[in-house]
Amino acid sequence: MTEPAALRTVVLVSGTGTNLQALLDAQSPDGYAVVAVGSDRHDCGGLDRAAAAGIPTFVVRVPDFATRPEWDRAITDAVAAHTPDLVVSAGFFKVLGADFLATHQTINTHPSLLPSFPGSFGVRDALAHGVRVTGCTCHWIDAGIDSGPIIEQRAVRVEDGDTEETLHERIKVAERAMLVDVVRALAADRGSWRRGGGLD
Ligand code: GRF
Repeated sequence: MTEPAALRTVVLVSGTGTNLQALLDAQSPDGYAVVAVGSDRHDCGGLDRAAAAGIPTFVVRVPDFATRPEWDRAITDAVAAHTPDLVVSAGFFKVLGADFLATHQTINTHPSLLPSFPGSFGVRDALAHGVRVTGCTCHWIDAGIDSGPIIEQRAVRVEDGDTEETLHERIKVAERAMLVDVVRALAADRGSWRRGGGLD
């Protein structure tokens, strides 16, 4: 019996790309392969990491399009050119639209225990609320903001004296391990999630 090919994975980034780096470091021929990395901006550490790893990159900027649906169509097509089985939003700072989500099965990683603290300031909001435990969530992306079906979560304690930066860095340690585990598990179990569900 032949081994299944690696799960073709496109990663979208806007920032430093440490989650991307964890995914790059954990690729394997019988698991998943990062076949391209896309961004909504040129000045992005994640693109540098991809280039250093010899992975093709592309940039689709919102201001280069007259309307948001046109941008969505363009990034949908840019991703489709790499024929992915899965798209991973790993610190991608744009909301993906209806065209994109109808075309690509897409997961996101978020630095809080959803459904608590969705949105752009999940770490800051958790600190401001005074929770003692927060963490990270990997979920399928749906039409809402950080509202899609949850795949996996990891808990992280808030320590006395934490700032947004120290807490976020600790969350990201858990987040990187979580993301690698999830993509590996999706690669191993693609038959079931392609039939339309999450990962059991
Ligand atoms: C992660 O915490 C992600 O959940 C959030 O932004 C951070 C990205 O970090 N949306 P990096 O760019 O992967 O280092």
